[in-house]
Amino acid sequence: LPNGHTLLIVGDVPEVSAAIEIVLTAEDYRVRQLISGSSTRIVSENVVEADFSSAESLREAHRLVLGSAADPIGAIVNLLALEAQFRHHHRTSADEAAALRLAQNTSNVIKQFEDDLRRSAAQGGGWLINFTSLNGKFGVDSEIPFPLAQAGTLGVMKSAAKEIPGIRVKNIDLDSQVEPQVLFASITAELAADAPEIEVGFNAAGRWTLELREQLATESEEALALDRESVVLVTGGAHGITAEVCKALARDYSPRLILVGRSPLPADEPAALRELASTTALRQYLIATMRRTDASVTPAQIEQALRQILKSRQMRANLAELRRLGSSVEYHALDVRDAASFSQLLDDVYARIGRIDGVIHGAGVIDDRMIRDKTPESFARVFTTKVNSAMTLTRKLRPESLKFLIFFSSISGRFGNIGQADYSAANEYLNKLAQQLDQSWPGRVVAINWGPWDAGMVSDQLREIYHQKDIDLIPPAEGVRFFMSELVHRGPSAPEVVITCSARQIEQISLKR
Ligand SMILES: NC(=O)c1ccc[n+]([C@@H]2O[C@H](COP(=O)([O-])OP(=O)(O)OC[C@H]3O[C@@H](n4cnc5c(N)ncnc54)[C@H](OP(=O)(O)O)[C@@H]3O)[C@@H](O)[C@H]2O)c1
Repeated sequence: LPNGHTLLIVGDVPEVSAAIEIVLTAEDYRVRQLISGSSTRIVSENVVEADFSSAESLREAHRLVLGSAADPIGAIVNLLALEAQFRHHHRTSADEAAALRLAQNTSNVIKQFEDDLRRSAAQGGGWLINFTSLNGKFGVDSEIPFPLAQAGTLGVMKSAAKEIPGIRVKNIDLDSQVEPQVLFASITAELAADAPEIEVGFNAAGRWTLELREQLATESEEALALDRESVVLVTGGAHGITAEVCKALARDYSPRLILVGRSPLPADEPAALRELASTTALRQYLIATMRRTDASVTPAQIEQALRQILKSRQMRANLAELRRLGSSVEYHALDVRDAASFSQLLDDVYARIGRIDGVIHGAGVIDDRMIRDKTPESFARVFTTKVNSAMTLTRKLRPESLKFLIFFSSISGRFGNIGQADYSAANEYLNKLAQQLDQSWPGRVVAINWGPWDAGMVSDQLREIYHQKDIDLIPPAEGVRFFMSELVHRGPSAPEVVITCSARQIEQISLKR
């Protein structure tokens, strides 16, 4: 850390912060601590309290922390995840709320100190270090339960690493069974070595890092034990890439499909639109008709109406295709974030049909904005769409009779992504939830970290960005083939998998320094 740059400990974990402060102050570092509370105030000489959910409070706290120092905050050591409130192992709805609060507060802190980290990075500093206690291997193969609420911070950090050029980001995961002195020595050595890995765990066996192992999709001899009586529930299954995999299921097994999405079931298309097959013809029609009734209509409103028509068309076509391929299909229009109505649907399926054999959780939304531009509402919408719904599934499904539970996660969870701190956080939560459920549920549980498909939520604008970055999109037929291969996978348990083209290009975006 350059001379004079402040090291800021974020969070209130007395035993850890005291140790850091003693050691670093002895070496002449300027160390300050920021803890969360309901007000903005100086607690003691080196400790400031702020309301982490308030940008204004954090701005004021920033001023108080710097005091008369001329140099920026050069390092943030984020201990928030280690606070007692985020170390629970149970999966209650209070835990989901905690997971959102933790991920969001972590993002808010980064937003507030981003400029400092940039300035410090230009002078050789700019550290952003996050601690979790997911058993020292980021939840991988963990037979002991770990506090899931912490998982989102991993995604926020990995996205920050991509968004803020030059900073040095570390997610350090600790096994709390290991002696604190041993952990302390390992962490100090890790930081001194300045190794490039963003994710490093420390457990009884020592230093641990993650690496991807390449595997081809195999055409399995075995088939799934699914037939026309089986029930597969699919969130998001009427649209996008989830609909594509449903078609393969319908083709191969024709199970009863129960699809869930927010959009109402589209009515038949009005005759005037039916003749307009191309997007251009539709757009021209909308411009003419919408301007006729309202001269002030904006291009954005026209594009929104166009998207809606195209989405309804796709939904109609998908549902028809699933039926043609032999599946019976129910569509339920509900918001999976609403625990009460989603739970009611799950209860109803068990009561009415008596079984759910498989679940594909594909519901998800993106709202890409840099950390500095994120709003609390947008962050929460992106996060809870995946996380709260996954937890409702976890509570309501009957694992003893469930053959598979597949989460549609994203490579953005694995590597982070520019503009996607919230989305990365949500996907990391799904990844770690899959790790946890895989330990105790008899069926297959897997979070597929998809790279970008040439379909679904990938817009033309995103396509162009991927093209510029030399990233190939997953052709839908290939995505479906890998999905089916994953579904019948019988090898060693692998609850987190990545399926993508151009894995290395996607990973490299983060290695700017
Ligand atoms: N496409 C890709 O390249 C890609 C890459 C990585 C990961 N993924 C993941 O794969 C999944 C599907 O993505 P996609 O590209 O197919 O997206 P998409 O075309 O936008 O489809 C998303 C689906 O989720 C539903 N949905 C969203 N929010 C919901 C809510 N609150 N309640 C109920 N349903 C909801 C949507 O229906 P309504 O709008 O009607 O609610 C829609 O059917 C997502 O989880 C995404 O994160 C996709």
